[in-house]
Amino acid sequence: MLDLNELVSCTRCDLSLTRQRVVVGSGPLAPLLMVIGEAPGRSEDEGGEPFIGRSGQLLFRLLQEEVGVTRSQCFVTNVVKCRPPANRTPTLHEITTCRPWLDEQLAMITPRAVLALGNTASRAVLGSEAPMGEVHGRVVYLGAVPGLATYHPAAALRGGASVVHVMRRDLAVLRQLLDAP
Ligand code: URA
Ligand code: SF4
Repeated sequence: MLDLNELVSCTRCDLSLTRQRVVVGSGPLAPLLMVIGEAPGRSEDEGGEPFIGRSGQLLFRLLQEEVGVTRSQCFVTNVVKCRPPANRTPTLHEITTCRPWLDEQLAMITPRAVLALGNTASRAVLGSEAPMGEVHGRVVYLGAVPGLATYHPAAALRGGASVVHVMRRDLAVLRQLLDAP
């Protein structure tokens, strides 16, 4: 069982020294979608919820437009629960140390489908080492639950319309999965 008290005071890795808050994740336990990002950014570290900054705004706009899913229908979390300084990519050590928390969430939450955002989540959740250019939009089964990866919305904020275009196509695949009986 996930011990929330232990998680919100976790000091298993050094990100605990610089974070303001552990960003656990939130949403229904049987959601349409489990959305998994990389790690909290500044807004999330301050607000305590995942994807409440600019990346989240873009993400949930695209999910609404392409999948017809709202934030309240998603359980939203990250591979790493504390913000890396200056939003650097989490180290392998941090990812491995934080992993048991995500594993407990994956065991507890029963989504209809899983969406991994960016390389860190794609590797950690879907187990694919290949670059996003190869794995995005491909359906992978986690037991009986379909999952797929797409680009991280932060990459879309940097990379512009072409990245958003690919994300929209990937999300259309997700919509088909959710529409299937
Ligand atoms: N980027 C992430 O990967 N996760 C968040 O929660 C916010 C930005
Ligand atoms: Fe604990 Fe994960 Fe935060 Fe590290 S990142 S302190 S392992 S909750």
